[in-house]
Amino acid sequence: MTFETLLVEQHGTVLLVTLNRPRALNALNGKMFSELSALIAGAAIDAGVRALVVTGAGTKAFVAGADITELASLDAEGARHFAASGQAVFGALERLGKPSIAAINGFALGGGCELAMACTLRLAADTAELGQPEVDLGIIPGFGGSQRLARLIGRGRALALLLGGGRIGAVEAERIGLINRVVPEAELASEAMRLAQQLADKPPLAVRYLLNAVYAGADLPLEQALLLEATLFGLSASTADMKEGTRAFLEKRKPTFTGR
Ligand code: COA
Repeated sequence: MTFETLLVEQHGTVLLVTLNRPRALNALNGKMFSELSALIAGAAIDAGVRALVVTGAGTKAFVAGADITELASLDAEGARHFAASGQAVFGALERLGKPSIAAINGFALGGGCELAMACTLRLAADTAELGQPEVDLGIIPGFGGSQRLARLIGRGRALALLLGGGRIGAVEAERIGLINRVVPEAELASEAMRLAQQLADKPPLAVRYLLNAVYAGADLPLEQALLLEATLFGLSASTADMKEGTRAFLEKRKPTFTGR
């Protein structure tokens, strides 16, 4: 598949996805959402893809938000549709069942911060800046920011960022749990690929059940979430990789997982 707004490279079982509109600091427009949607749908059914890295083209930005040029001309129904389609794409990424890593190589603002939050894990360059500046444009986040941010870092901290509209550096983002780890800028790409490869080498069915348990369970009352966990635990015990993983431990050797 070739895209106009994305660069996609497959490195073994890791898909490296670069949002590629550097002249607009990789701002998200309708075309980018439809291409991301197609890419995620393809990755979902491709057993050769076990993990994704998502990053931005150029040296300045991961993603500087929704494309304000496009946004400025939307009426209420157009804006609702824009938000709903962005939410669907980020939801599909979050629920892909395969881990994704945001390699935040610069500004991650508005939709950029929301995209990073829809990824499974977040690494940021020490030069990166994150924030939800929508309020200063007279709008609110539309791609999940008002929901995922509070779930990730707690309501109080989320409200301070959402209402303040300012930017925070990577070190502060790590301190409040918005990102997993700060990495020196020059090492970000290699570190993200290394982490993605580590995750890609894990038994993919166990990884999928784990992601399902965490994400679907978070929306359920505890009792039902625990039932879901036990059910997925049972399912994981039916896999060849579970037999191999436990046998390899008992035989004191490295397991060879087949993804079945
Ligand atoms: N949508 C569309 N274009 C954008 C954009 C966005 N979200 N963010 C940046 N751009 C464009 C700028 O218009 C500029 O285009 P130009 O060269 O044709 O004038 C180019 O990207 C470079 O941005 P610029 O503002 O000149 O860079 P800067 O280093 O001075 O500032 C930012 C960088 C990220 C602080 C600033 O671009 C910014 O605040 N962007 C908007 C962030 C935002 O509000 N996002 C939420 C949107 S809902």
